[in-house]
Amino acid sequence: MTPPAAAPDVAVLFQAVFGAAPQAVACAPGRVEFIGNHTDYNGGAVLGAAIDRHVWVAAAANRSGRMRLHSAAAARPVDLAADPGAPLAGPDAWANYPLAVWRSLAEFGLPRPEGFDLTVVSDLPAGAGLSSSAALELAVALALLRVAGAEPPAPERLAALARHAENVHVGMPCGILDQGTCACGRAGQLVHIDCRGPHFTRVPLPASARLWIFNPRERHSLVDGRYAERRRECEEAARRLGVAALADLTPEAFARRAAGLPAVPARRARHVVEEHARVGAVVAALRRGDLVATGRLLTASHRSSQRLFENSTPLLDALVDRLESRSGVLGARLTGGGFGGAVLALADERFTAAAARALAAEFADRPGGVPEFMPLRAADGAGVVDGAGGGREERR
Ligand code: GLA
Repeated sequence: MTPPAAAPDVAVLFQAVFGAAPQAVACAPGRVEFIGNHTDYNGGAVLGAAIDRHVWVAAAANRSGRMRLHSAAAARPVDLAADPGAPLAGPDAWANYPLAVWRSLAEFGLPRPEGFDLTVVSDLPAGAGLSSSAALELAVALALLRVAGAEPPAPERLAALARHAENVHVGMPCGILDQGTCACGRAGQLVHIDCRGPHFTRVPLPASARLWIFNPRERHSLVDGRYAERRRECEEAARRLGVAALADLTPEAFARRAAGLPAVPARRARHVVEEHARVGAVVAALRRGDLVATGRLLTASHRSSQRLFENSTPLLDALVDRLESRSGVLGARLTGGGFGGAVLALADERFTAAAARALAAEFADRPGGVPEFMPLRAADGAGVVDGAGGGREERR
């Protein structure tokens, strides 16, 4: 495999910043949530794809015992004599992710360098709901493990470590979707996660499928607060319904029991229960190569987010509305936590770059201006990048 193009850049940046070559370079992709919106922490299923946009991390041990963290996207480097213990704020907040991983390595009984230098380069838009934080966590974990002389863990364990870092040390109560997909992705395939295990399998994406992202660049403040609020609402609904997790219920069983629920938990629960069923229906449709049915289910997922889970925005809805009517677009939906972020469109070859540009131009007068848009491919998961000329290591 050819290493993604920015691998040399991150090593060059490392050399420029720290005056020596890195000992390790690792790379992790972003992801799209293909379908399975807020199903993961409800014991349900989800389908994601690792994408051909990445975060690269170069690292080396240092003798000073300091943690020196540099990102091409950050205003200034972070230089710490020791673990600060408390979260970093303002322009340094990005460094909470590498620090969270560094703490988690010890908690998982894995080796880590005590002092290290690290640089980060990315072509993955941040804040678009494409899991730039999960990618950063995974790439940092792989780079620091390599620096400490350890073999990369199995992708499932790596994903668990990165999720632990995010839940415990960043304080975001996410499920396993992001880290699991970014760790376990495979070119041309979707990652299916039965989140109760979690149990990971793959589902091939038909070759005629095209994935597009439209990112209107909405500011989504309060994302974490509203995500946690939805999580609490789902837990309340499960408690009232007498089930351990909402995905324990079929849509029919839910319909029989829903009458006693207050309106808000009822809407949240119905979304999750039906969304879990839609994931199963999409897997079946993909296995018979039916992209038209797959696309319809994707749009149905969006409408459910819009009306029942209420984690969409008017701008995301408008993008889905316009995409739906375009030739070659089979379905569209918000991807990820919601309350902002991006829309994923499933299309075939009739939807061209010119058509995508024309659609984006229709949004020129909206907040944020013309949405960023990009075609994406389902890509391999996180891995260590070997030295110059080497390929990414196969881990299984
Ligand atoms: C975010 C979280 C995931 C998942 C999605 C919604 O991406 O990190 O765990 O809950 O939202 O499906």
